[in-house]
Amino acid sequence: MILVVGATSRVGKEAIPTLLAHGHTVRAMTRTPEKAETLRQLGAEVVQGDLRDPDSLARACTGVEKVLAAAHGFNPGQADNNPHTVDDVGNHNLIDAAKAAGVDHFVFISILDATPDSPMELIRIKYATEQYLKASGLSYTILRAAAFMEFWGAMVGEPILKNHKTTIFGSGNNPINFVSAADVAAFAVIALEEASARNQTINVGGPENLTLNQVAALFEKASGQPAKKSHVPLPMMRMMRVVVKPFNPMLSLQITGGIVMDTENQTCDMSATLQRYPVKLHHMAEVAQQMVESAN
Ligand SMILES: NC(=O)c1ccc[n+]([C@@H]2O[C@H](COP(=O)([O-])OP(=O)(O)OC[C@H]3O[C@@H](n4cnc5c(N)ncnc54)[C@H](OP(=O)(O)O)[C@@H]3O)[C@@H](O)[C@H]2O)c1
Repeated sequence: MILVVGATSRVGKEAIPTLLAHGHTVRAMTRTPEKAETLRQLGAEVVQGDLRDPDSLARACTGVEKVLAAAHGFNPGQADNNPHTVDDVGNHNLIDAAKAAGVDHFVFISILDATPDSPMELIRIKYATEQYLKASGLSYTILRAAAFMEFWGAMVGEPILKNHKTTIFGSGNNPINFVSAADVAAFAVIALEEASARNQTINVGGPENLTLNQVAALFEKASGQPAKKSHVPLPMMRMMRVVVKPFNPMLSLQITGGIVMDTENQTCDMSATLQRYPVKLHHMAEVAQQMVESAN
C-alpha cells in the first residue's frame, strides 16, 4: 500500500493514476475527501487527514509500505495552514507517524537548491525537513523540484490567454528552470518503485531555463496575439513585502518568493539525471498549448 499525502495536489493527481495502473494499492489522503472523488473512482482508497493532526496521520499510515509526501501550506487564504504548520511541523508529524507505523520507504517532494540560509522561509523549511527525514532512519528519496510550469504558466500565461495582458513580478529577466508537475509525478513513481532511487537526493527540473519574459512570449505565441506586459519593480516588491506582513503574512511570503525568483540562481541542468532516469520532459510551450486548448 502506498500513501499519497497531498493526493489532490498537481503532483498527486498525476502520480496516483500511474501508480494504480502499475498495480499498486493507493491510499489518497486529503483534508476534504470530496476533492478526491475522481481518484476514488479510479480505484484509490480516499482517507481524510491533516498534516496538523498527528492522530489522522497515525491512521493514514497504518498498513502502509511507502509514503509520497506531496503537500504544502504555501497557498493563500488559509492563515493557520502555512509553511510553519504544514511544511515544517506537519511533515515532521508525518515522518514520525511513518516511522512508528513501520513504513519501508518515504518519498519527499522538496525544492530545487534547498539550503538552510535561503531568503525564503519555505525553502529553509524544506531543507530542514530533508535533514529530519535523513536522520529518521527511514529509507528515503528526496526529489528537489524546480518551479512548476502549471503554476507559473497560470500566473503569467492565463491573463494573456484571457485578456491579452499580464503582470510580471520583477524584471522577468532571470533564467528559471520550470518543470511540469507531470514530470515531477513521473520521478515520484520512479522513486517509489526503483531500489536505485533509495537514499538519493535527485534534482527534478525541466528541459530548459526560461525567463518570465520568455514565458510570456511563449503564451503570446500560443494565443496568436501580442499582450501588454506590466512589471512590478523589485524595489516596490521589497517595500510591499514589509508593508503587507502584519496583516497578510502569507502574501508577504509569496512576494519574497517573487523576489527570489527574480534575483537568485534558479537554473538546473537535467542531463546527468536523465541519463540515469530517461523521463521525457515536457516543455513550457506544450503546457501553454494545453492551456490554450482547455480555454477553448
Ligand atoms: N508548485 C511549485 O511550483 C512547486 C515547486 C517545487 C516543489 N513543490 C512541491 O511539490 C509538492 C506538490 O505541490 P503542488 O503545487 O502540486 O501542490 P498544490 O496543487 O498547490 O496542492 C497542495 C496540496 O497540499 C495539500 N495540503 C495543504 N494543506 C494540508 C494539510 N494541512 N494537511 C494535508 N494536506 C495538505 C492539499 O490537500 P487538500 O487540500 O486536498 O487537503 C493539496 O493536495 C509540494 O510538496 C510542494 O512544496 C511545488
